Order: sequence, then C-alpha cells, then structure tokens
Amino acid sequence: MSSPSSASGSRPGAEPGTVRHERWGSRLAFVLAAAGSAVGLGNIWKFPYITGENGGGAFVIVYLACIALIGLPILMAEVLIGRRGGHSPARSMALLARGEGRSGAWVLVGWSGMIASFVILSFYSIIAGWAVSYVVHAASGDFTGAGPERIGSLFTGLLGSPLQLVAWHTVFMVMTAAVVARGVRRGLERAVTVLMPGLFLLLLVLVGYAMTTGAFGRGVAFLFAADFSQLSTMAVLSALGHAFFTLSLGMGIMMAYGSYLPPRTSIAGTAVTVAVMDTVVALLAGLAIFPVVFANNLEPAAGPGLIFQTLPLAFGQMPGGVLIGSAFFVLLTFAAWTSSISLLEPTVEWLQERRGVRRGVAAVGAAAAVWALGIVSALSFNVWSDVSLFGKGLFDLLDFVTANIMLPLTGLLAAVFAGWAMSRASTREELEMGDGTAYRLWRFVIRYVTPLAVAAVFVHNLL
Ligand code: PHE
Repeated sequence: MSSPSSASGSRPGAEPGTVRHERWGSRLAFVLAAAGSAVGLGNIWKFPYITGENGGGAFVIVYLACIALIGLPILMAEVLIGRRGGHSPARSMALLARGEGRSGAWVLVGWSGMIASFVILSFYSIIAGWAVSYVVHAASGDFTGAGPERIGSLFTGLLGSPLQLVAWHTVFMVMTAAVVARGVRRGLERAVTVLMPGLFLLLLVLVGYAMTTGAFGRGVAFLFAADFSQLSTMAVLSALGHAFFTLSLGMGIMMAYGSYLPPRTSIAGTAVTVAVMDTVVALLAGLAIFPVVFANNLEPAAGPGLIFQTLPLAFGQMPGGVLIGSAFFVLLTFAAWTSSISLLEPTVEWLQERRGVRRGVAAVGAAAAVWALGIVSALSFNVWSDVSLFGKGLFDLLDFVTANIMLPLTGLLAAVFAGWAMSRASTREELEMGDGTAYRLWRFVIRYVTPLAVAAVFVHNLL
C-alpha cells in the first residue's frame, strides 16, 4: 500500500485516525478498471436493444449528447469525490461534507448509490448468466446453419426455465465474488488488463462480418439518421438513464474506484478516455447488430433478447462461426464480469471499513444477498411473467427504477455536491487542471447545465 503522500496531507480522507487504503498500481490500471466497469452488458446488450425500441438515430443523438454534457462531467465529479474522500462512497461523502462544513445528510447520496448498485447487480447477473449459457451453445455448434426460428426457440427455452436461469446466475455470482474477494490489485486489476483489448478486437471482427450481410447501409442509417419526430419523452428519459448506466454513474462506483486512484493523475484525462472507450464500444455493437437484424428481417424493437436472437444467426452463417461465436460470448461474459465486480465493490468496501468484515467474507456475504434478490428477476421471465406493478413486469420495473430514476437522481446530487457544496479551491486542487478554461467550463457545466438538464428531463416526464 502506498502511504498517503504529502499532496493529500490536508485532505479529509487523510485526517488522523483514518487509514487510506490500497491504490491502483498505475494510471493505466485505473483506466482499464473504470473502462471495465463502464463497458459491459450496457454497451453490447442494452444499448442496441433500447436503441431498437426507441427508433434509432434520434435516440442515439440524444444519448450521445447526454454522455458528453451530463455523463462526462459527472464522471469527473465522482472520481474527484472518491479520490479526495479516500473511502467508500458513503464515507467519502460524509468526510468531505464535514470538511466543507456541510450537512451530514450528504451521506445519503452515497447510500442511495450503494443500494442502486446492489439492485442492479441482482438483475445484471441474470443477463450475464444468459451470456455464459450462450458460450456453451456457441461452442457446441447449436447455431450452425440455424434459422431465426431455431435461434428464437433456444432463447425462449432459456427464459422459460427458472432452473436454468438461476443456475447460470449462480455461476456468474460465484465468478464475481471470487474476483472481488481477492482484492483490488490481485483481482480486479489483473482481470481487466487482458480482457478489455480482446473484446474490442472481436467487435471489430463482427462489424467486418456485418459489412458482408448486404444490409450494412440500413444498419448505419438506422443508427445515425435522425428523425426527431419519432422521439418520445420517455425515450429521452431512457437515453439519460442509459448514459448513467453505461458509464456506471450515480451509484458511487466511480467514487469507489476513484478512491483507489493515485494522486497527481489527471482526472479529466482519465474520464475522457473512459467515456470515449465506452461510447466506441456501444456504437460498434450497434454496427455489428443492426445489419444482421435487417438482413434477416428481424425486429429491431425485439427488446432484451435482441442480441441473443440476432448475433447467433450471424455466427451460424459465417465461416469460423463456432470459434468466433464462442469467443464473442466469452468476451461478453468478461465484459459483464468486469462490470459486476465493480457493482459488488461499493458494498464490500463499506462492509470492510464500517463493519470490520474481512474482504473475503464481505464479498461472499454481499454476493449471496444479491444472488437471492436476483431470483426475483429470474422468475419474472417465466413463473411470474404475469405479475406487473405500475404497468411493468418485475424485471423491467427493477431496471426502470434503478437506471432511469435512482441513477440520474444520485448523479444529479453528486453534481450538486461537487459544484455547490464543495469549494472552488477543493475541486480545483483535486482536478489539478489549473484555473484555465477547461476547469471553468467543467465547473460551469456541473453547476448549471448538468443539474438543469437532468431536472428538465424529470419534470418533463412527470408532467
Ligand atoms: N456500466 C455497465 C455496463 O454498461 C453496467 C454497470 C452499471 C456497471 C452500473 C456498474 C454500475 O454494462
């Protein structure tokens, strides 16, 4: 563990009696871990299907605007809060609020983030389980020469079986707990350094295949030709919510990861890198998927099953499809894995530091609790498929409440904290950008643009 250097001497996290913890080995490790958290099912599974449901181009533009104007500044704010606080999200918020002479109630922001991460992991793991089970399908040649119907029935068969869903969910949660239990350096860092580049390469291969389908142009047009008359206000809320989801914002994850970031590493530079990588992966996924959808006359608005019903068709038809298909689902599993470890981390960090629980025990305990909650989502696809609350199925409801409501609200509060509760001197010191245009722009955006934009989307949707 590196000792708190002189640069952090006056920082709240370094006050006597509080120990700053383990650090990332390097800036690259942080970038990869943060990108590993950001890049996940959100990019490859969720982005394409919600783009499909919301009609394409116009939605994509709103989403990109949300990333740049809202997501990126908040990403910087979260990392800065985390590094300055030096502890778990809730504790960092409490320490910083105290240091700035603000209300202790700010700790609630850390809390709501932690709760959101807990709930999200419960359903995230179900979808990740689908990916794991598709590794087996792909490797055993189940897709070879199969048409849309056969591929469709493989998928509905999986969803219809609570036993299979829970089994794969269990496998995935065990994988997650195993990495988190090993700790930041040995667990998280090692895993991401290898896996991220592999995923990226494979996506390029799939885009290459999409170009041969004859429908590449239609796919590109669907993604980028904007018809704003088709855009509903609900779609704007989804785009906003997804910007938070995909960048892992609004739940303290980037705060938790930021707390492991060494001093004197540029927060702005790292944040931009992470946001760009995340966006590129999502767009590549869209470019790989929609041409296949159109070439096979599938429905872009098919919902959560979209990639599981389209990509296998491509794998079944392309040369080397068994290998490429297996590799793809392995990497999708890894992308989900590097995200899920980040979803478990805040709770584990908190159990360790506040309850004095050993890391291994904390990881297993938290994973077990998440696992139990995940069963609700698993059953919502079959046994409880008729149960609905507020007009939504249980899975959709958990997704909606966390991603579209809790994340933006928590992110909004993090922005208000960084922009208004923290002094100019503190944020400037932590961001280490000097007092030039870049810093001023960030501060202006985080104080005015971000809160107003998030509030506007909410108010609009409530009216
Ligand atoms: N950002 C991850 C993804 O896009 C999901 C995630 C959400 C991870 C929230 C952590 C926190 O898949």
